Amino acid sequence: MLTTIIYRSHLADEVPVSVLPGMVEKASLLNARHQVTGILLFNGTHFFQILEGPEEGVLDIYGRICADRRHHNVVELMRDYSPSRRFGNHGMELFDLRHHDSGSVLQAVLDRGTSKYRLTYDDRGLQFLRTFVEAREKENYFEVLPADYWDFVPDDNGSPAPAAGVTFRPVVDPLGREVTALEALPDDAPAGLSGVALYEHNLDAVTGAMNRAGRSCPDDIMLYLSILPMTLVYVPEAVSRLVSAIDSAGMVPQQIILGVSETEIISQLEAFSQAVRQLKQAGISLSIDNFGDGSAGLSLLAHVQPDRVRIGAGIVRNIHRSGPRQAVVHAVLRCCSALEINVIAAGIEQPEEWMWLEAAGVTDFQGALFTAEGAAVAWPETREAV
Ligand SMILES: Cc1cc2nc3c(=O)[nH]c(=O)nc-3n(C[C@H](O)[C@H](O)[C@H](O)COP(=O)(O)O)c2cc1C
Repeated sequence: MLTTIIYRSHLADEVPVSVLPGMVEKASLLNARHQVTGILLFNGTHFFQILEGPEEGVLDIYGRICADRRHHNVVELMRDYSPSRRFGNHGMELFDLRHHDSGSVLQAVLDRGTSKYRLTYDDRGLQFLRTFVEAREKENYFEVLPADYWDFVPDDNGSPAPAAGVTFRPVVDPLGREVTALEALPDDAPAGLSGVALYEHNLDAVTGAMNRAGRSCPDDIMLYLSILPMTLVYVPEAVSRLVSAIDSAGMVPQQIILGVSETEIISQLEAFSQAVRQLKQAGISLSIDNFGDGSAGLSLLAHVQPDRVRIGAGIVRNIHRSGPRQAVVHAVLRCCSALEINVIAAGIEQPEEWMWLEAAGVTDFQGALFTAEGAAVAWPETREAV
């Protein structure tokens, strides 16, 4: 299958530019052997490359390129398939933008096109190329430090007191070294329930977790609890039962964030919105979880305005390497910023995921990276400081 991969990357600091001609010469031979075309642009700091050819060859070469330590922050911008080649001449060509003006580079690349249909800038690949040449996306090139720049050091003072029957998952601001909320997860999962019985069980689990967690949750920390969205619709008096449970747990509604998952299809939007109005009236905050992973997406924000949204592993995993994921998260962040909605990024496992999201403006995180053994919080410290 004819495949195109486009990526950009950053020349490693210790690598002199003088290595480029030799690297291109070698790469050209390997590309030709795999019937791959590689058009490489370099602007003095960043690379941009279009690789085109049979899928196996492109993937093999891209795998080697990703592992090459002469550059870093490799971000895949596009992976696409097409019926015919844009560039028929296998090998490799380097365009050094420091020595050419942007118009002549764009024309030179167009001239390399061998497609029987004239190559035009309607082509997505060439749009990416033009954006790079004209440096239009540069503000979104976040330079993520290598993972081993950080150590994650457990802090026993930062962990919540244990509570029977609940597991705590902290929400943290890693640079502010602050736990901003505690998520309480009930230990029991419903088995084989459906319909109203499922939602009744869910409400009992949430109020039970609230009761057990309330005693361990400091007054100045928000308690985060997930609830099925339809529990708020199908269980009569769900909101007033929640308010009573908050009271018996010795807390106030302003301390509670209820998270509903966007992946649970909200089939009765009007009835759900009505329940949300009651929640807000009672002073309870609403978070929409797994935001962007489910069926409703951004349009949900036009119906229900939550106080927070939580994006999860489905979209944050390997975000530092994926242009499409970065574009989706940028869109979510822009939208939430316009609506003054706070964003939590959950499911963080890798330092690079956290660093990319911090650079994009997220401050609240959850995930194994910040939760050491025994649920103690682990704070990032630079290696030299440890
Ligand atoms: C920015 C950049 C672009 C590269 N482009 C190619 C390429 O198009 N084809 C290629 O075979 N190697 C390319 N290389 C070199 C590969 O990373 C790798 O060194 C080479 O394929 C030899 O593979 P090996 O290191 O596994 O022996 C590139 C390296 C860099 C830093």
